[in-house]
Amino acid sequence: MRILSGIQPTGKMHIGNLLGAGNQYVDYQNKGDLFLMVADLHALTVLQNPKTFAEETLNKALELLAIGVDPAKCTLFVQSHVKEHSELAWILNTITPLGELERMTQYKDKSKKHRENINAGLLDYPVLMAADILLYKTDVVPVGQDQTQHLELTRTLAKKFNSLYGQTFSEPKTMLVKEGAKIMSLLEPKKKMSKSDNPDSYIAITDDAETIKRKIAKAVTDTGKDVKFDPAKKPGISNLLTIHSLFSNQKIPALEKRYKGKGYAPFKKALATLLVEKLEPFHRKYEELKRREVYVKTILSQGKERARTIAASNLEEIKEKVGLLPE
Ligand code: ADP
Ligand code: TRP
Repeated sequence: MRILSGIQPTGKMHIGNLLGAGNQYVDYQNKGDLFLMVADLHALTVLQNPKTFAEETLNKALELLAIGVDPAKCTLFVQSHVKEHSELAWILNTITPLGELERMTQYKDKSKKHRENINAGLLDYPVLMAADILLYKTDVVPVGQDQTQHLELTRTLAKKFNSLYGQTFSEPKTMLVKEGAKIMSLLEPKKKMSKSDNPDSYIAITDDAETIKRKIAKAVTDTGKDVKFDPAKKPGISNLLTIHSLFSNQKIPALEKRYKGKGYAPFKKALATLLVEKLEPFHRKYEELKRREVYVKTILSQGKERARTIAASNLEEIKEKVGLLPE
């Protein structure tokens, strides 16, 4: 089984990334052939600072290693290091209906948010993502809920390519976790937690104890004071209950029972303590890796070599099927 996923380099990895996707990476590296990439080309669709961008890319690899991604068990690499991704994206562009791209929610949201920079890359984002996936003839893609629409398009493109040029790609499956595929913002619990928002709206996996306590204390709860799971009426406290449940492995009804009639404060305090405890091993690993930059770069270089070998051979087959003149 071939598995592939990606994460953008900008911003800090947060507990939404971890619960929705990161834990799945760590799990899948034991189940099959996992390719995991830092999607730096995708991040370029929003203007980046060229002075710090490379460092952020390296840092994302550090964070992935810190949460337990093991280079001995998977192929960890940087998207822009394997040029075949962009090349396949171009070919897929030529079979992608424009209308499909225009209706993508992420495109609509991002073009509202970055009105000053509605570039073609923003619209084309899902095609590059389809290329990332199809280039490796991927079977399974573990992601958070926000990426499901992009994966539907990936399957549409796989089918279309197959029908035009002959059977080449299988249709990759979207893998979502049952709980936690959409962790919500701490400040606006009707929106998903995102690393491009206000830092107080997320808990980064590298946040220290004081920061975690402050952010949880400040997290928006709802009117009333019952610790009760009701996402429609009580989105704030429901999100915190989901987070607690996933980190503590306790069922939500058991948590509701424990904090019944006690108000929000003791629950929030317990959640903060839990997060400090659970994130601590990641901190230690992260700090250790910060001192081993050469080692991390070597891992990325080895990942690139392995990814390239497969990417080059698959792309050659794809180009031949399309009818491009062989070199
Ligand atoms: P962000 O959206 O925070 O910038 P990325 O786009 O790089 O993060 O996402 C990396 C992975 O984390 C993707 O699989 C994405 O679906 C998942 N993810 C992002 N935000 C959340 C969230 N709030 N809850 C669950 N999964 C998420
Ligand atoms: N677009 C994804 C996100 O923002 C990141 C990504 C890029 C990705 N290429 C991918 C995820 C391929 C899965 C497969 O979260």
